Amino acid sequence: MALTDFLDLTLAVAEPAELEAFWNRRGLDTTALGQLGTPERPTQLVLREANYRHVASFTVACELRSDLLTISDRLLRLGVTSTLGEDELSVEDPIFGHTIVVKVATAGLLLPPTPRALNGPGQLSRANRRSEAAVRTYEPRPRRVGHVVLGSTDPQASVNFYVNGLGFRVSDTLPEAGATFLRCSKDHHNLLILPAPVPCMNHYALEMDDIDAIGLRGFDVVHERPDASVYGMGRHVVGSNVFWYLLDPAGGMFEFFTDMDQITNDDEWDSELRRDDWDPFTIATYESGFSKMDFFLPSDIDAIAAGREAAGW
Ligand SMILES: [Fe+2]
Repeated sequence: MALTDFLDLTLAVAEPAELEAFWNRRGLDTTALGQLGTPERPTQLVLREANYRHVASFTVACELRSDLLTISDRLLRLGVTSTLGEDELSVEDPIFGHTIVVKVATAGLLLPPTPRALNGPGQLSRANRRSEAAVRTYEPRPRRVGHVVLGSTDPQASVNFYVNGLGFRVSDTLPEAGATFLRCSKDHHNLLILPAPVPCMNHYALEMDDIDAIGLRGFDVVHERPDASVYGMGRHVVGSNVFWYLLDPAGGMFEFFTDMDQITNDDEWDSELRRDDWDPFTIATYESGFSKMDFFLPSDIDAIAAGREAAGW
């Protein structure tokens, strides 16, 4: 496939310094001015100041310069002009207004998680000592920004732009919910388009090593701010990922996730979700219930609408 990876996400918020400090406390390093990441992937989350919270841009990787030419041609056929540089292309999303950069690049190699000693039925891996998760010597950090979810006023047009213009692939659709799960890598989804009354970000998502990593870091957030939990923990049906959705100090929802479906072969991927007993609106195969309705629409959607209007959108 032409697109190979999701590289980074730029968020515009009212107080970027506050959000930067929040992510520093969760284990993301400041690797440059307003830029957060890890030694493996120094550029993951970029923060900048704006009057209202929105996605400013995101970057995806492609393999070859010829991929950029193909994408540029496809966008032109949709009536969208892009800017083509030596090793990258940039284009403005016609509905949201954010910039998408397609770069000839390779994502930083991620080392697999260090194996942890877990006990289980017939499995004694950790004798005479406590779990590192129980005594908090396990200090997991987010490994990468994996996806972003957008609420569109015209989901069909948005899907057309990302699939037929930029070359994202469709992993799953939930027609009853108007939801389309798109990928630019092996991840089941790097981008999910949902319907919304105002173009907005629903959430951004960071991959963690395992369920303990989600629990520990998620609880840190709740410990700082007891009303930060939105939904979770649980396991999604579509994408299979284990999740916990929480609010960051800018009011944006983010997800800690792990164990997402990986698609390496379209022919082998079961996109039909063949489960007779499955309600297409089922979000999770197990979950702890919603504590906030922000999961479907940000509670400050009126402020986002006003901010967009003031910015000329
Ligand atoms: Fe997500």
